[in-house]
Amino acid sequence: DAAGTRVIAIDGPAGTGKSTVSKILADRVGARFLDTGAMYRAATLAVLDAAVPLDDTDAIGERVAHADIRLDVESGGSTTFLDGADVSVAIRTDRVTDAVSAVSAVPAVRTRLVAVQRRAAQGAFVVVEGRDIGTVVFPDADLKVFLTATPEARATRRHKQNLSAGRAGDYADVLASVNRRDHLDSTRAISPLRPADDAVIVETSDLTLEQVVDTLGRLVRDRIGVQ
Ligand code: DC
Repeated sequence: DAAGTRVIAIDGPAGTGKSTVSKILADRVGARFLDTGAMYRAATLAVLDAAVPLDDTDAIGERVAHADIRLDVESGGSTTFLDGADVSVAIRTDRVTDAVSAVSAVPAVRTRLVAVQRRAAQGAFVVVEGRDIGTVVFPDADLKVFLTATPEARATRRHKQNLSAGRAGDYADVLASVNRRDHLDSTRAISPLRPADDAVIVETSDLTLEQVVDTLGRLVRDRIGVQ
């Protein structure tokens, strides 16, 4: 656009390898990485820490309106701050994961975070990862990718990630949680999870991480001319 903003939108459900792929791709093409799921997680942590009931949408909107949520975009984007504190680890706990769909369905929360996301991308070359990036946040993105995989493939990945991060867990629980979140995220009234009409859909169930990154790298080269 006029300000020189270039956006690669990467959407899709949890467990498609989206975060890992987006991070590596951003690195490879020299773009910043914006993990919007981390923002919804930080908003959720703010709500939980303030003991706001999850059915009180007004109070949720109010708490998030006053939350200072930042991603450290310069250094790879993997550090998340809430009101000045590093919450990168706290936002990955089950407590947050179990409540994030409720918080991210609140319209006032989405309006606030979408504004933060647009501001963060202003004038930059960014890989933005989320659920509604190609449909709502950046409908004019230079490239839109929608990553998918079967629920089983996604649960298997999440389960392995959990184990290697030292979080014990049961595969069946992970699969149930994947299915539950998919349902909530794709049936909510506002910004449901769905591919943009002009998104390139990449089915990752049978692809390695390297194959997905290579596929996206080729798309970036062909569409944006980088690398
Ligand atoms: O990608 P993730 O699992 O960290 O995302 C956490 C939750 O945030 C996910 O259940 C849906 C929500 N989310 C959203 O509603 N919109 C986005 N752009 C990103 C995430």
